[in-house]
Amino acid sequence: MKYDFDKVIDRHGTYSSKWDGLAGMKKRVTNINIDENTIPMMVADMDLQSPQPVIEAMHRVADHMMYGYTVANADPKYAESLCRWFKDRHDWIISPDEVTCSHGTFGALEHAVKLFSNEGDGIIVMRPVYGHFSSAIETEWNRKAVSNHLINDNGYYTIDFADLEEKCADPNNKVLIFCSPANPVGRVWTEEELKKVSEICAKHDVFVISDEVHCDHLRKGVKHIPFLKVCEDKSKAMVLVGINKSFNMAGLSCSNAIIQDKGLQAKFMETYPWVMPTPFAVAGQIAAYTEGDEWMDQVCEYIEGNIDWALDFFKQNMPKLKVAKPEGTYCLWMDFSDYGLSGDEVHDRIYINANVVLQDGTVHDPEYGQCYQRMCLPCARSVLKEACERIAKAFEDVK
Ligand SMILES: Cc1ncc(COP(=O)(O)O)c(C=O)c1O
Repeated sequence: MKYDFDKVIDRHGTYSSKWDGLAGMKKRVTNINIDENTIPMMVADMDLQSPQPVIEAMHRVADHMMYGYTVANADPKYAESLCRWFKDRHDWIISPDEVTCSHGTFGALEHAVKLFSNEGDGIIVMRPVYGHFSSAIETEWNRKAVSNHLINDNGYYTIDFADLEEKCADPNNKVLIFCSPANPVGRVWTEEELKKVSEICAKHDVFVISDEVHCDHLRKGVKHIPFLKVCEDKSKAMVLVGINKSFNMAGLSCSNAIIQDKGLQAKFMETYPWVMPTPFAVAGQIAAYTEGDEWMDQVCEYIEGNIDWALDFFKQNMPKLKVAKPEGTYCLWMDFSDYGLSGDEVHDRIYINANVVLQDGTVHDPEYGQCYQRMCLPCARSVLKEACERIAKAFEDVK
C-alpha cells in the first residue's frame, strides 16, 4: 500500500511525551515558550503512522479483551521474525536463541553496564552522542562518563582512534557504549571503522555495547553493518536493536539484545530480570519484522525527502547554519556557531521567538555543544516547513 506521510496526524491527547508532555519541559528547560502553536521536534519518535500490519496487530490484541502477563517466546515468530528482518535487510545471520527481549533499549543497556563495570568505573562514550547515555551513566548508574570526542570535519564526524586507544588503555574504563548509527551526528560507521573499534576494545578488554536502534533509517545506498558482524570475539560485545525506533513503537517499550556468545548470554540472563513485555509489543514486533518492509522503504524515502528539503531550505535562507546530510537516523545536527551568538541566544531565538522546541547541543555534548541544536524531523513535510520558516525568521536580522 502507499502511505500518505504528508497527512498531519494530531497527537494531542494521546499521552505523547513530545506533544502532551511539553508542559513538563517548562520545568526542565529554562527560556521556553509553550503554547498551542509550539512545534516540538526534540523527541526521537515519529509523527508518522506505523505500518498498517502493526496497526492491525494492535487491534487484534485489543479485541481479545484480556491483557494478562505475557512472554515473548511463547510464539517462536517473535525471534524468528527479527532474524528474518536482519538477514534480509542487514545481511546479518542471527539465530532465534541469540535474541533476548528487553524492556526498552535502556533496560538491556543498564543491565549490561552494571554487569561489566562497578560503581565509579569509566564508561566511554563518543561525544556528541545521545545525551541520555551520559546522564544515566553519571546519575543513575553511578559510573563516570569518559569522553572520546569525535573529530568534526565540516559536519562529517569520524572517530578519534588514538584517543579511543588511550581511553581504552586506562584500566578504570570498562565499557564502551557505541552508538551505531550515531545519534545525533548521523554517521553510519564503515566496516573499517567498526573493525578498528572492535580491535582496540578487544586489545584492552573493554566490553562494547553497540546501540543500533537507529539502524533501519538509512539514506539511499547506505548500508548499516552490525557490530557483531565484524567483531571476532563474540564474548566481548552485544548489539541492541528495537521496533521502538524503527517502526515508531517506542510507547511499547520493547527492544532486543542480540548476544552471540553462549557464555556471555548465560551470564547476562543469570541476572537479567524476567522481562514480561505487553501482548501489544509481542504482536507488534512480529507484525513489524514480518510485514514492515514496504512501510520501511517508504518511510526512509519520506525522511530523506524531508532532510533534502530542510538542507536546501537552510542553504537558501540561513547560509551561516552548518548542517551536513546525515547518512542515517532522522536527526539533523545543526551548528549555529557562525552566527556569532552565544548558545543561550541561539536557544532563545529558536525556543522563544520561533516557538519551535529542538534539543540543546549540550545535552549530547556538554563540552562543545553550546552552539548546536538537534532537530528530529520525521514529521509531515508541512510541519517541517513551518518550523524551518519560523527558525529562519528568528535569525533574519543576523542573516
Ligand atoms: C541511540 C538511542 N538509544 C536508546 C534510545 C532510547 O531507547 P528506548 O526508549 O528503547 O530505551 C534512544 C532514544 O532516542 C536513542 O536515540
